Amino acid sequence: MATYQPTTESSGTIPNTDMIWCSIRQCFITSVGIMFLWLFITLKDLKEDEADRSVEARYDSKNLRLLEDWQKITFKYSEKIQKRRKTWLTVGITSVSRRDPSGLFYTLASLYEASSPAEQRRLTVLVHLADSDLIWLRETVAHISSHYSAQILAGQLLLIHAPSEAYPTVDGIQNETSPGQFHSKKNVDNAFLMSFATKLSTYFLLIEDNVYCVPNFVTHIHAKVTAMKPKSWVLLEFSNMGSLGKLFHSRNLPLLAHFLLLFHRSKPLDRMILHFRTLLVQESPIISRPFLFYHRLPDHRFDNKESTVVPEKNIYGPDNPPGAVFTDMKVSGVHFPWEAYTMDESFFWTYNVSTGNHLTVILNHPANLTRVQVVTGSIMNGQYILVKGQVELGYDPEGMPQYCTNFVLLGHLRQGQMDQEIFLKSIRNHVSCVRLVVNADQVGGLIIRHIYLWEENA
Ligand SMILES: *[C@@H]1O[C@H](CO)[C@@H](O)[C@H](O)[C@H]1NC(C)=O
Ligand SMILES: *[C@@H]1O[C@H](CO)[C@@H](O)[C@H](O)[C@H]1NC(C)=O
Ligand SMILES: *[C@@H]1O[C@H](CO)[C@@H](O)[C@H](O)[C@H]1NC(C)=O
Repeated sequence: MATYQPTTESSGTIPNTDMIWCSIRQCFITSVGIMFLWLFITLKDLKEDEADRSVEARYDSKNLRLLEDWQKITFKYSEKIQKRRKTWLTVGITSVSRRDPSGLFYTLASLYEASSPAEQRRLTVLVHLADSDLIWLRETVAHISSHYSAQILAGQLLLIHAPSEAYPTVDGIQNETSPGQFHSKKNVDNAFLMSFATKLSTYFLLIEDNVYCVPNFVTHIHAKVTAMKPKSWVLLEFSNMGSLGKLFHSRNLPLLAHFLLLFHRSKPLDRMILHFRTLLVQESPIISRPFLFYHRLPDHRFDNKESTVVPEKNIYGPDNPPGAVFTDMKVSGVHFPWEAYTMDESFFWTYNVSTGNHLTVILNHPANLTRVQVVTGSIMNGQYILVKGQVELGYDPEGMPQYCTNFVLLGHLRQGQMDQEIFLKSIRNHVSCVRLVVNADQVGGLIIRHIYLWEENA
């Protein structure tokens, strides 16, 4: 069972659990143009004759049905409303309320500032508001519709939302504390985004919220695609960060969405994308430099003694609790190790590192960490990254000077970076050290740009 309902007559509608509304004044401007997709997919209980199958098989069959339902509805909806011309490129963004809300607005502003009117005509921007928090949805829609009514009315900016009923569960239990559940949400969010984007344009570019876009990125991408013409490709990368700046042929999106839904619990999105690329037999990555997309650096105001304005802490930014930084890598005398742990744009510069070298942050007091981000390499073109390295969390400091006695592997760097949320209480609590370890000798320069730590309830 599935129905959909664009919220075109939202003024005066009483909000219920499956509907959002915005203020009459704001909605009035753009309500006709806002394309909202509402899906109410009732996931029927599985029949008894399926009960003897394994959990996996039942689960997959449910996903398949979910996908078929989803595709039927999205295509029907697209046909109806997307009678407009197909554009050359669709940029897809998934946004959730947990992240810095200004991130999405920043990204949209950057997208439109970076593209000329001619480029904008070749562009569709598709935003999946992937959160069931009604207040957040309402405020986000109100904000976007008041700032981008022209783009919405022209069909260049589309907002979609799938209600939580559309999301698969494991045996009916949502376990938010397990890491698989977290990957799952992000994978399914993006599967919906891609599924909806299939018919909008020839190419699809996946970015994230909280992103800076390089001016004229559409033209740059067009030039790259033209240059690639004689060769076949599955994935072109315009950034080396996780799932940011990845270009696909739109015709491959149904397959990719299907793949994400089937294996949504198995891996994080960025690794699913790499796996998909190899499945479609593109063996090596095609990374286009210089990069066109960057994560926005945390908003930073430096202490200015003259100023009477007290700098506000960005509640979504990193916390970096006080600590000391030690390393056995070479120190050049210009960029010091502790610059890797500051929250400004300074960095630590070293060279010719060997297996086993480390840079360790020893916290003054044990902390409960919810997320760790380590970024190496230059911001513009990804040079001077640590090619093989891992991040470890340390506990139980002893001795003078103090050093941790137990370390647990948190994750490996990919393309010089790691950004990981920590779910298991057993690893996230009482962390005293965060250590970046070199896993292979490397000749030449190395930039350790930052180590960011987020504390629980900081
Ligand atoms: C959720 O996952 C965690 C970690 O994997 C596990 O310890 C816990 O028992 C699970 N809870 C439920 C209700 O399945
Ligand atoms: C790094 O190692 C290479 C090869 O061993 C050497 O040629 C180079 O001089 C070293 N760089 C520095 C700055 O010592
Ligand atoms: C970390 O979590 C533990 C267990 O939940 C708690 O007892 C402790 O006070 C927390 N520490 C900090 C610094 O928040």
